[in-house]
Amino acid sequence: MADVTVIGSNMIDLTTYIGRMPVEGETIEAPEFNIGYGGKGANQAIAAARLGSDVNFITMVGNDGFGQEQLANYQKNGIRTDGIGIGHQNSGVAPIFVDPSSDNRILIIKGANKELTPAVLDEKQALIKNSKLIVLQQEISLETNYHAIDLAQQFGVPVLLNPAPANKNLNIDYVSKVVFFTPNETELATLTGLPTNNLDEIKVAACDLISRGVENLIITLGHKGALWVTENHAEIVPGMKVKAVDTTGAGDSFIGSFAHYFAQGEAIPDALQHANQYAAMTVMKKGTQKSYPTAAELSDLLAAAVD
Ligand code: RIB
Ligand code: NA
Repeated sequence: MADVTVIGSNMIDLTTYIGRMPVEGETIEAPEFNIGYGGKGANQAIAAARLGSDVNFITMVGNDGFGQEQLANYQKNGIRTDGIGIGHQNSGVAPIFVDPSSDNRILIIKGANKELTPAVLDEKQALIKNSKLIVLQQEISLETNYHAIDLAQQFGVPVLLNPAPANKNLNIDYVSKVVFFTPNETELATLTGLPTNNLDEIKVAACDLISRGVENLIITLGHKGALWVTENHAEIVPGMKVKAVDTTGAGDSFIGSFAHYFAQGEAIPDALQHANQYAAMTVMKKGTQKSYPTAAELSDLLAAAVD
């Protein structure tokens, strides 16, 4: 039995740290470039694994050198590889631009991630069945996610759906079939068509989703923390303010660590608080997975952060 089974994407992150974006026709020099492992699914799997969860990852890597490197990266991080297939296309890649204020702009080229079809999940049914929690994001097709939710429901396994990146075509009926639905403010606005510029607006939009049958709605608010809403309860679990250098993948580190803590049996508010702390530690370092601490490193970082 795996603690956490992540079904989703993997990418190679090609991160350029920029002073500013060039304008059309202009060539400028950027101070720094960094290559690393990314993809929202992979990031979530790595966060849970580094914290000590037994993780299964169902994904499709590319038929190229990057694909082989991805496989080696999962093995090195103790992730089970029975769910990983090799596609016929190139690996998914993500050109990323991080500006001096630590914010990012991301392009994704899905490549082999497009080959993670419902039929592939049928072959991996046993992995889905033998999990404490299934974690999904939206860099693979919506049909594959719907099939994952249906299979998990059939096996009685709870699902966390992280609707990132935002996709207005998500069939909202599916949100009532998952135990956790975790949009950020932008994704919440896309899904409800409502503004989410302040906490009051966010709460109104949250009620809209709750009325559609979402059991636990967790709205991630960046360094402000997370808003947990159920039918008869709403609670903000505050985040940590730290000095950010690169926020890429912070949301994924929150989801992956939350999945870990929840699968370990923590109550939801505790798991949220610990996930906030984990995500805060990742923004202080450059890179995506490169900045995700292990359980031991996390204790040291947290101790240093409160000094
Ligand atoms: O959420 C961050 C991730 O988005 C990056 O790792 C990039 O690969 C894209 O998937
Ligand atoms: Na980071």
